[in-house]
Amino acid sequence: MSFPVRHTAKSRLSETDFNHLPFGRIFSDHMFQADFNGQHWINAGIRPYAPLELQPSSAVIHYGQSVFEGMKVYRSAEGELLLFRPIENFKRMRNSSIRLSMPLVPEDIFMNGIMELIKVDANWVPSGDGKSLYIRPVYFATDPLIGVHPSELYTFLVITSPTGAYYTSELKVRIEKTYSRASRSGTGYAKAAGNYAGALYPTQLAQQAGYNQVIWTDAATNTKVEESGTMNLMFVINNVLVTPSLSPSKLAGITRDSIIEIARHWGYPVEERDVFVDEVVAGLRDGSVTEAFGTGTAANIAPISVIGHEGEDFTLPIPTVESFSTKALNFLDGIKTGRIADPFGWVVKI
Ligand code: COI
Repeated sequence: MSFPVRHTAKSRLSETDFNHLPFGRIFSDHMFQADFNGQHWINAGIRPYAPLELQPSSAVIHYGQSVFEGMKVYRSAEGELLLFRPIENFKRMRNSSIRLSMPLVPEDIFMNGIMELIKVDANWVPSGDGKSLYIRPVYFATDPLIGVHPSELYTFLVITSPTGAYYTSELKVRIEKTYSRASRSGTGYAKAAGNYAGALYPTQLAQQAGYNQVIWTDAATNTKVEESGTMNLMFVINNVLVTPSLSPSKLAGITRDSIIEIARHWGYPVEERDVFVDEVVAGLRDGSVTEAFGTGTAANIAPISVIGHEGEDFTLPIPTVESFSTKALNFLDGIKTGRIADPFGWVVKI
């Protein structure tokens, strides 16, 4: 399927400083939009990035019926555009949509809308270390009615943003036992906008105490670690890659899955299981936890340098070239940018 394209009258490309790309603040010239009218997908096409017209009564503003995705396209040294595992984002958005009672965005609209948009804004895909075009599909309810019910009308949008690193230094995180991100029966596994809103206040408290982010614990007992900030969480404990197993309260990260696959491909031992706060704290104390890092599309692999727990800070060893996280980051970035042959079939050339 190909879509009509309305080109911008004035590109912002020449005003953009590609040497300075703060995350998520600069947007490419165009966006993709398709609307659902209760029965059919209509108005699908590419148009200039511009403010939206939305009724003040739109359901999304009042009740947060909105899900999103995050993915990246890289420019290889040869100039090819390489998209990383887009089908996984499509599948996850389908799961998120079901949880929020939203009709499914058809695969051809999701995939071809993204592909066509990247082609139109191809010059916005940066090259160079750690740089990519971040792609943000977002899907939300637009019924103009004040009443809590699944909307009939929806908009699916894709915007893109040339970007560098999400975190520019190693992270100081605090184990959070008062507030939770998600419960076992809630919306934690969905990439629902409201999950992120609920995380802001506890994160702000941690930031006021000098940390960058929190480590979320399970809502029922606050004894098991779940995620860190907007990322999945991994440890190296006694030379084993240990990560909380997926559950209804955790986001099924595509970077998380990729790192596990890479570890298995290397024959590195992996454990997906419950990871207890006490075991992490004991391991930080006795030195058996040698690495901790977050994984996510935006953050990629973000090493954690300090973990705070009940007023005590534990400092982790500085990652070296031999660290698992350094090697995994190098391998994953190599695959994403075409520098290393992709043994998994993850990369889609545009
Ligand atoms: C991502 O990693 O792509 C995310 O969606 C996390 C964040 C930027 C909200």
